[in-house]
Amino acid sequence: MSDDTTATSPGPADSEGFDHREKIYAARWVIAMAIVLAALGVVSGHVSILAAAVAIVAVLVAVMLSARRPAIRARHAAQGAAGAALWPDTGMKMVVDALPDPCFIVDRRGITRYANRAARERFGKVRPGDPISFRLRPPALLEALDRVIADGGTERIEWSEKVPTERWLEAHIGPVQTVEDGREKGARRADGFILVAVRDLTEQRRLERMRADFVANASHELRTPLASLTGFIETLQGPAREDKDARERFLGIMLEQAGRMRRLIDDLLSLSRIELRAHVRPQAEIDLGSVIRDTVQALEPLAAKLDVEIRTDLPQKPLTILGDRDEMAEVFQNIVENALKYGASGKYIDISVYSEIGPQNAPWWAVKVKDYGPGIEAAHLPRLTERFYRVDVATSREMKGTGLGLAIVKHILTRHRARLDIESTVGEGACFYVRIPAVVRELANV
Ligand SMILES: Nc1ncnc2c1ncn2[C@@H]1O[C@H](COP(=O)(O)OP(=O)(O)OP(=O)(O)O)[C@@H](O)[C@H]1O
Ligand SMILES: [Mg+2]
Repeated sequence: MSDDTTATSPGPADSEGFDHREKIYAARWVIAMAIVLAALGVVSGHVSILAAAVAIVAVLVAVMLSARRPAIRARHAAQGAAGAALWPDTGMKMVVDALPDPCFIVDRRGITRYANRAARERFGKVRPGDPISFRLRPPALLEALDRVIADGGTERIEWSEKVPTERWLEAHIGPVQTVEDGREKGARRADGFILVAVRDLTEQRRLERMRADFVANASHELRTPLASLTGFIETLQGPAREDKDARERFLGIMLEQAGRMRRLIDDLLSLSRIELRAHVRPQAEIDLGSVIRDTVQALEPLAAKLDVEIRTDLPQKPLTILGDRDEMAEVFQNIVENALKYGASGKYIDISVYSEIGPQNAPWWAVKVKDYGPGIEAAHLPRLTERFYRVDVATSREMKGTGLGLAIVKHILTRHRARLDIESTVGEGACFYVRIPAVVRELANV
């Protein structure tokens, strides 16, 4: 980085010339008087031409050697003040400290003069006086800083770090303009400080990637049944046109594929509807017990088909919560249906509800749905609520699953200030817990 802190101040020769002209201008009346007196002396014959010339030169030399004028002193004082501005003042530090993003104030040599609180927290201890490259190393950033120092413009650059975790960052680099800067040289001047403000883009990038993944997954899930439908339509138009048996069979498969597309679209719409209301907590009082009983009743035919018995252990008193009845029904519908579909080999499902003390000593209802099927490996547990995440895609598809069920469950529970916990031991089955705040006055009755 170049050190050109003096580039905009006048050079020594210039400065001298300017001083002499200024002094002669200030003493113009004295010089004029000396010339007039010398001329009168020569004309009257009392003074020789040589003596008059010597007198005028003597006056000029005296003017040149005279003390500095107040204007010159003022200008030098101003230059001194600019030199003192090499360290940012308290006001500037306070403003920078109030900013939420890490900010560095550097001088024109790239030396850190101040780092705000966020910068110290994010980049560790920053010693004023150290080059900024000690803390911010990307070459692109240092080159951008050089450009800002050279031409006084502003720059924005992005970079990523791989260690210790992958992070994306951006920096805005721009000169700090002072009022004097603006008056003296116009707006684009950078001989004071440069502000380097850093912003963490990691979360934004993660959301962008998630959105892109989601669109890719949704399109893929829709494309598969669509391709199958198109294939059967072509077969029916061509080779199987006159084959009555094939036609019946193919129409059955087509209906199934169309059903799969409909389920997927319903789930996607359901997810976006819940997301839209994610921050609005439902206010209606509903009975959790009756929601669970209705869900079990609705799933009895599936349980019978899969030869599974659903056993329930629910308190008889109303289990009041603040909730949306349809959404809570969707939660238990999916969890119990999963237990039936994936845990059918265990032959039983146990559903129980009991009270618990939640965070801040608040009473919660805990709903436990336990199956005795193959269970889920620990590595999958944290990812089960991700959209389209399935332990075994083929089994899920076979069971008409879309992989969106638990993602919807998680969103609904978040909106209800409730929690989903999953425990499982491979070979022994899986256990899903829904923990939801209870309406207090009802708890005392249980
Ligand atoms: N009780 C369970 N036992 C074993 N695996 C389970 C159980 N519950 C869920 N899973 C696994 O979690 C995955 C995700 O479940 P989720 O409910 O989100 O999707 P899905 O059931 O495949 O589809 P959908 O719910 O949309 O019909 C399932 O595909 C399955 O692999
Ligand atoms: Mg499911």
